[in-house]
Amino acid sequence: MNQIAKQLQGRDLLSLHDFTPQEITHILDLADTLKQQRKQGVPHELLQGKTLAMIFEKSSTRTRVSFETGMYQLGGHALFLSAADLQLGRGEGIGDTGRVLGRYVDGIMIRTFAQQDVEELAQYSQAPVINGLTDLLHPCQILADLQTIREHKGRLAGLKVAWVGDGNNVCHSLMFGCAKMGMHLSVACPPGYQPDSAIAAAARADAAETGAELTLLTDPAAATAGADVVVTDVWASMGQESEQQARMKVFAPYQVNAGLLAGAAPDYLFLHCLPAHRGEEVTAEIIDGPHSVVFDEAENRLHAQKAVLALLLA
Ligand code: CP
Ligand code: NVA
Repeated sequence: MNQIAKQLQGRDLLSLHDFTPQEITHILDLADTLKQQRKQGVPHELLQGKTLAMIFEKSSTRTRVSFETGMYQLGGHALFLSAADLQLGRGEGIGDTGRVLGRYVDGIMIRTFAQQDVEELAQYSQAPVINGLTDLLHPCQILADLQTIREHKGRLAGLKVAWVGDGNNVCHSLMFGCAKMGMHLSVACPPGYQPDSAIAAAARADAAETGAELTLLTDPAAATAGADVVVTDVWASMGQESEQQARMKVFAPYQVNAGLLAGAAPDYLFLHCLPAHRGEEVTAEIIDGPHSVVFDEAENRLHAQKAVLALLLA
């Protein structure tokens, strides 16, 4: 086992901020290898006999299926645990849940609301904890995004990335991912929907180490001008359903459409973590058009997370 693999063994994945550029590159390299092996039918059962518990307090298509399938392909097993079925739903604390699950399984993936709950689970579990989305962050998504961008562009450092829309969980993890990998990110959000200022400060500190630039704007045209990669997400995230109508009005000028992307680089890529709302945050013309790589991106959730599992649960 090389030094970086050793550093990753037994670690939690709570935020990309906690990982070095070298560690992220190692994860992406293994993700590429595992993808190739899967396509070539080469067995890669790196987690034989290991079990992943998956706690879901929010809905999921991609995260659930890619983690569960990924564990199976690695020779292991995954348990789907909805919070409503666990004693967690009846008031057992996250600490005791972590202590107990950590005695049974080799890793825990959790999708929930508060980032603090994921951190508490990690504090009490002896098994590594993987953040499968919180209100604050979505690190696994951005590993898949980085893998996708590198596949299509052949590099990461120096690329110009634009985020348009809500300064949300996916945006926050993208800020860390770009900062760590030396990519220049311009974020355009309506006033009042800007990224969290503590996350921005931490991402700026990461960026200072790699020469990346992070720019926070309100003008989507300024953010997408000359962009190599354009990324957006839904205007109302899970848990914000009651704000949907109000958000539709505020975000209307932030729709990613052909007019906005006329200013992007001629060979720009379009990414969206999915699920998408065509006609809201992005037009069908763009998400179903020739620059869109959203289904490669969705596929890469499988490969990137298999790399994370193989390294952390090794
Ligand atoms: N992108 C993503 O996390 O999708 P799911 O909500 O379907 O898991
Ligand atoms: N920002 C979205 C991402 C879904 C994968 C949400 O949190 O609902």
